Amino acid sequence: MRLSLLIYILLSGMSLSAQQPLFIPDTLSGPNISLTLKSDSVQFLAGQKTQTNGFNNYKYLGPTLILKKGSTINLSVNNQLTDTTTMHWHGLHVAPYNDGGPHTMILPGATWTPGFVVMNDAATYFYHPHMGMKTAAQVMLGAMGLIIVRDSTEATFNLPRRYGLDDFPIIVQSQELDTLNQIDPRGMVDSVLMVNGTMNPYLDVPAQVVRMRLLNGAQERAFNFGFTGNKSFYVIATDGGLLDSAISTTRIRLGPGERAEILLDLSAMNGQSLYLMSYASEIPIGVQGGPTMPMPPWSPPMNSPLNGIDFNILQLNVGAASVNPVTTVPTTLVPLNPYAASSADSIRTINFTADSAMVMDGPFYFNGNSFDMMRIDYRIPLNNIEIWKLVNETMVAHAFHIHDVQFYILKKNNHGPLSVEKGKKDVVLVEPYDTVYFITKFQDFTDTAIPYMYHCHMLMHEDDGMMGQFLVVPATTSVTKISSSPLVNIYPNPADDIVNIEASNISSTTANISVTDITGKLLLQKEIKAVNKNINTSIDINAFAPGFYILTVKAGVEQKVMKLVKK
Ligand code: C2O
Ligand code: CU
Repeated sequence: MRLSLLIYILLSGMSLSAQQPLFIPDTLSGPNISLTLKSDSVQFLAGQKTQTNGFNNYKYLGPTLILKKGSTINLSVNNQLTDTTTMHWHGLHVAPYNDGGPHTMILPGATWTPGFVVMNDAATYFYHPHMGMKTAAQVMLGAMGLIIVRDSTEATFNLPRRYGLDDFPIIVQSQELDTLNQIDPRGMVDSVLMVNGTMNPYLDVPAQVVRMRLLNGAQERAFNFGFTGNKSFYVIATDGGLLDSAISTTRIRLGPGERAEILLDLSAMNGQSLYLMSYASEIPIGVQGGPTMPMPPWSPPMNSPLNGIDFNILQLNVGAASVNPVTTVPTTLVPLNPYAASSADSIRTINFTADSAMVMDGPFYFNGNSFDMMRIDYRIPLNNIEIWKLVNETMVAHAFHIHDVQFYILKKNNHGPLSVEKGKKDVVLVEPYDTVYFITKFQDFTDTAIPYMYHCHMLMHEDDGMMGQFLVVPATTSVTKISSSPLVNIYPNPADDIVNIEASNISSTTANISVTDITGKLLLQKEIKAVNKNINTSIDINAFAPGFYILTVKAGVEQKVMKLVKK
């Protein structure tokens, strides 16, 4: 009797299932921003602590970066993990060497210092590691943070923008915790919901118009967001910018990596409570989050209790209005100017494929190819306007994401985009057997060595090879490259033994040269003194196995990453 009572207390009373206030990460802004990624642990459940990743003083997730369009920002990313990582600014239009894709590795203990001018429109973006084959493991343990870009256009609208008061970051995740309370980054029996890393959260909100910046930070699951009682709300922004008007709706479905900014009018609700929910019963079969599909016996378990049911995500307790509340919703916002389909220079077809029609858990491919760091899938001339035709030939949905650009959806099958999909996007959820067309323009940055990625944002699909890469190359030889990197020349390349390295325009007194293999393992490192801002040295790669390596020249805050091929 006593023992069972004790067990009962351990299971219920001691568990941390009580409601907790929603964690609102602090903000970082200004021209210099430092992030340190480290591992930690959190008491998510009773019993064993859960191993996590977090930035700076956070054990899980990271601070919200607030960037101003047009401003120059210098970042410093220190990797305190025991694993090599990278840091990607999801949705931001930056040069390839600033993009933090799998080629731009940060070794354990090292610091990466990208810098760029913020060119994106006001919207909600995010940052996360992008290490080849390890993205799910690093991100799902908590390596993720929000980016808010502000601009002068957005500032002219009477919108809630007081962070944490009437403008809230809402990172929604579902996790699978194993019997030892550890996160399974590939888990598809994800039953633990978190918002900003808070389980069972509530948020006190004022009785006025509030803004929520929704990010689907889950590994695979789509959320069909809505509120208790089908209360309507307004969608004002998609991944890469404001819409042309506030769209009144009762649902917004987001796949992994997708964002939406919504306005919720709580003016008449002082003293009441409601929930942000996922109406997952409306998600069709094949879209992760919808009903569990009948599984062949060899599949890993996928029967999450969250599949195909409506569930609460975040309780909102409405209290008194704040001073100077926003009480109205603007009708018109920013005009959208999608490129005309007739202006496209080329059309590319990307088929989503698998080894057989029965595959539900992967691996999935683009056009039958698994990701290869050494294979450039496309060379895109600078300033090309392109239509990409995404054809999903598999039985599950995929959240297609492309770096460098924001795109406009032209068509889904035979109809135009929904009104909430008409704005700038960088992720689109492509349902099973659907075809989606988008149009975009590849502008401003070229690089003949470091590619941009396109991939499925369902992280385990990405890690399993559902990723490709493209270079944006000068359209003509006279196109000037926007670059803050030192000018570096390596030759010969490919090489068998000695590689000469010359760099000019070095702003620091010394430069650091390192070579890693594609898994990020450091093979060679060398510190060189600059003479008259120049560097002239050589390295010996005789001992390297034939293949592809990454050579990084780092001088002060500048760095250049290049591919080196050993014959
Ligand atoms: Cu958020 Cu390439 O990813
Ligand atoms: Cu996928």
